[in-house]
Amino acid sequence: MTLLDDQFSGRSAPGVPPRKSQGGAPAFFSAWDLHAYYGESYIVQGVSFDIREGEILALLGRNGAGKTSTLRAIARMEDPQLKHGEVWLDHKPLHTMKSFQAARQGVGLVPEDRRIIPGLTVQENLELSQIAEPVGWSIERIYEHFPRLAERRSQDAITMSGGEQQMLAVARILARDIKLLLLDEPYEGLAPVIVQEIERILEGVKDLGITTIIVEQNAIAALHLADRAVILDMGEVVFDGSAQEVLDNPQLRQEYLAI
Ligand SMILES: Nc1ncnc2c1ncn2[C@@H]1O[C@H](COP(=O)(O)OP(=O)(O)OP(=O)(O)O)[C@@H](O)[C@H]1O
Ligand SMILES: [Mg+2]
Repeated sequence: MTLLDDQFSGRSAPGVPPRKSQGGAPAFFSAWDLHAYYGESYIVQGVSFDIREGEILALLGRNGAGKTSTLRAIARMEDPQLKHGEVWLDHKPLHTMKSFQAARQGVGLVPEDRRIIPGLTVQENLELSQIAEPVGWSIERIYEHFPRLAERRSQDAITMSGGEQQMLAVARILARDIKLLLLDEPYEGLAPVIVQEIERILEGVKDLGITTIIVEQNAIAALHLADRAVILDMGEVVFDGSAQEVLDNPQLRQEYLAI
């Protein structure tokens, strides 16, 4: 597979670091002109954005706008197939890698289904995420940070509540040494009181300075957490600015987020 398909060659700049960042230096994270397909279906249509180290970016847009597909393309999953574009994380070209290699470079994707492994306890789920180097937080430190998980360490993780499973999903990522956290709908299906609990956990992650992309239908909650926002519509970026600008702009919210 070539990432520099002829179809796009006029718009490509192979090997050139992303341009949008300030002062010419590559941003900590940069997605540049991503085009991704499910088979023949052209879904991610030229998405670009940069993130500074430690920043949280809310990636928003209506159902079907291409948010999950963009996260999957960044994490280098096989579907959708990235046919053109570059993804850089801390000077490393993720677009040349497969998903396991991107994970080794510090990409941590928490998908909507949270990927808790059935039949394993909380403790075993955490241990499993530390099988491969580089290891992040120790399991003891995780239990100090997530007392609810400590209480349930011997419980079959799949029998926990949705909120507890989301905590475990985030904890599993922290158990690895990550540079970029990708969260797909972390509040989905959770009661408001549990959403608040997950929000506090994500505030804690923010304090750790982990660069994060959060996709969320609950756009207001995501915008309160985020520094910046990118809005997608039909696979293209229609807004890139501060989270506060979106909160302050009812017209923009109405048009692209229906809130
Ligand atoms: N595996 C797939 N095969 C074909 N098309 C797909 C596949 N997954 C998603 N799509 C299509 O790609 C488009 C973008 O989907 P995506 O899941 O990225 O949207 P989204 O912004 O995450 O939406 P939502 O808010 O509903 O989660 C949709 O039109 C969807 O039908
Ligand atoms: Mg989605």
